[in-house]
Amino acid sequence: MNDTPPAPRLARITPENVGAACDLRVHPDQERFVAPVERSLAEAYAAPSDVAWPRLVLAGGEVVGFVMGGFDPDSGIDAFRCGIWRLNVSAAHQGLGYGRFAVEAVAREARRRGRNRLTVLWVPGEGGPEGFYRGVGFSPTGQVLGDQVLGERFLNLDDVPGSPGGE
Ligand SMILES: CC(C)(COP(=O)(O)OP(=O)(O)OC[C@H]1O[C@@H](n2cnc3c(N)ncnc32)[C@H](O)[C@@H]1OP(=O)(O)O)[C@@H](O)C(=O)NCCC(=O)NCCS
Repeated sequence: MNDTPPAPRLARITPENVGAACDLRVHPDQERFVAPVERSLAEAYAAPSDVAWPRLVLAGGEVVGFVMGGFDPDSGIDAFRCGIWRLNVSAAHQGLGYGRFAVEAVAREARRRGRNRLTVLWVPGEGGPEGFYRGVGFSPTGQVLGDQVLGERFLNLDDVPGSPGGE
């Protein structure tokens, strides 16, 4: 028996997959930590062009995750210049490496845009994503925005970004 989870790949949002994207659900007790995908897609639609970078994570023919990078280099708000704005891995597919894959995809896009620092905002608390973000290389900056902690990770611009497809 092969227990290896299906390999992830990145995909743009299309008319064919947008419904499945909006159906993605985290665990009910995680909903306080992240906006639903449909809200993120509405924000991406409303953002100036080339600022929001929404992508799906597909694996085994299913939508297993959603990630949205945000790249607004001239923003007065640190967290909006180059960061992970949203990350939702479906409840049924957590713990299989798809969240880490999504973070690396945004990091690769950030490096492609010549950025060497990636941020993320998280809501602290039991059952939240803090341990995950620390595990994938983020550290708190000490800044707080509303009820969220700002984390940062420095990127090595010498790494030549490879492509997982769908970019
Ligand atoms: C947080 C989240 C994105 C993690 O995604 P995931 O696909 O389950 O994570 P991965 O399987 O890629 O885990 C990568 C590593 O982080 C660890 N990890 C995952 N969730 C963790 C948590 N909540 N606390 C501590 N470590 C965690 C894993 O054990 C794994 O460690 P390893 O590489 O040493 O084995 C997912 O749980 C989720 O969507 N949560 C609800 C929404 C949310 O909080 N989003 C973030 C908004 S800022």
